[in-house]
Amino acid sequence: MGEPSKNQDALEARIPPTCPASISQILSQAWHHDLASLKPLLDVPGRASVQEPTTGETPLHAAIRSCGPAGAGAVDLEAAKSVLEELFFNGAIWNDVDSKNETPGCVAARLGQKELYEMCVGAGVRAELLFGLLEGYEELESMDEDGDEDEEVVDITDAADGEEIPDLVVETNSAGQPTEKPTEEVQRSEKKAEEEETEILESNPDRAFVPPNAAEAQASQVESAEYLRSNLTYSAGKLTDASANGVMMAWETSIMRLSVDSLLPEQLPGRKVLNIGFGMGIIDGMFAATKPSRHHIIEAHPDVLSHIATSPDCKFGPAWESSAAQEGAYKVHAGKWQDVVPKLLEAGETYDAIYFDTFGEDYSQLRMFFTEHVPGLLEEEGRFGFFNGLGADRQVCYDVYTKVVEMHLSDAGMDVAWQEMDVDMQGLNEEGKGEWEGVKRRYWTLNSEFSFFFLPPPAPF
Ligand SMILES: C[S@@+](CC[C@H](N)C(=O)[O-])C[C@H]1O[C@@H](n2cnc3c(N)ncnc32)[C@H](O)[C@@H]1O
Repeated sequence: MGEPSKNQDALEARIPPTCPASISQILSQAWHHDLASLKPLLDVPGRASVQEPTTGETPLHAAIRSCGPAGAGAVDLEAAKSVLEELFFNGAIWNDVDSKNETPGCVAARLGQKELYEMCVGAGVRAELLFGLLEGYEELESMDEDGDEDEEVVDITDAADGEEIPDLVVETNSAGQPTEKPTEEVQRSEKKAEEEETEILESNPDRAFVPPNAAEAQASQVESAEYLRSNLTYSAGKLTDASANGVMMAWETSIMRLSVDSLLPEQLPGRKVLNIGFGMGIIDGMFAATKPSRHHIIEAHPDVLSHIATSPDCKFGPAWESSAAQEGAYKVHAGKWQDVVPKLLEAGETYDAIYFDTFGEDYSQLRMFFTEHVPGLLEEEGRFGFFNGLGADRQVCYDVYTKVVEMHLSDAGMDVAWQEMDVDMQGLNEEGKGEWEGVKRRYWTLNSEFSFFFLPPPAPF
């Protein structure tokens, strides 16, 4: 085995003597990549996902962790891969977090074990697609960061900021949520994870580990209906809800810029634009600067609507609406997109560019939007894009969701193209500090890249 770089990754730290023998045995065989001894132990369903009760170590964590940092020692990587394969085959859970708030994929990323990382991503994609089929939508499990020293997700290439993560390299027509700021689907899944943890704790001593920040994660959930009832505050550089969740923040301006440049590459005047979710109006300001012939905005939150209608800082009020050459060409549609879009479709509205960036909604809503509505709303040469924040608080979740969403977009008959950009992480690296001051949760931790995609025309139906 490779020498673990830090004590915290040592076998005795992860599988302490207090570990129940039946769990310790599986973890040890996984740690030592002893496939022959491990296999029979996995005959009992659920045993591939046992967790050390205090460290949360799973067989996947153990098999990856014992490899140590890539290139640092003589590790039989093939043996490690065979163990991972066997564990996944036996139902090992790809996104269990340990006491350091790391999933197996996070450990692989931190250690630079790229092949093992890719296996975790592959397993995550399969699992999330399956959940999607079984439940109708996908959920990611990802815990809040807790200020722990190991919490930061490290680029799998271990490269300096700005270097690309190979997994996210642009592809056309093969496997991102827009979303959403505090990645709602993640938060929902955290709640679900918490509920499941409780059930498991009661029924399964093999899964008695409870992540240290589970309660905190539960407390930070955002539900759409609750969000739409809460009071919002516009302050310098951000829009926050009543619980100080960041709804929209000025640091995302460069992402909005790339989005507009991708959706309207030639920036020609006279295009028809639809934006769902006004927030701080950043992207609408950019769309307006291209001088569209039609510019529709859908916004559901009463405080945002009131800001639009009355704030002297906002240029999308009544005067903007009446400045259009044609009545109704510039319009803020008040209401949830779920209610407004059917009316636009009924009215025969179509657009050259559609952007989707809501808040407090889970992935099922985004998927419904692009599957059921985008094809009818988009002009033949039109493009659709969204804020790709799915799982953005954890690299491995982001990579899994990027692939899952691409598959769903392809299923919906769309061609997918990705664009990547560096996110300037200055001021974004520390919870509660810099840009995050006054914001409850750091919903973006991807310190080197951002992937955005746009969709050239959907296939004809
Ligand atoms: C992240 S902000 C959008 C930021 C925007 N892209 C910008 O450049 O400032 C999300 C917006 O979506 C709105 N929203 C949330 N759910 C919605 C829904 N179902 N229909 C329409 N708007 C919604 C929120 O009130 C919020 O104003």
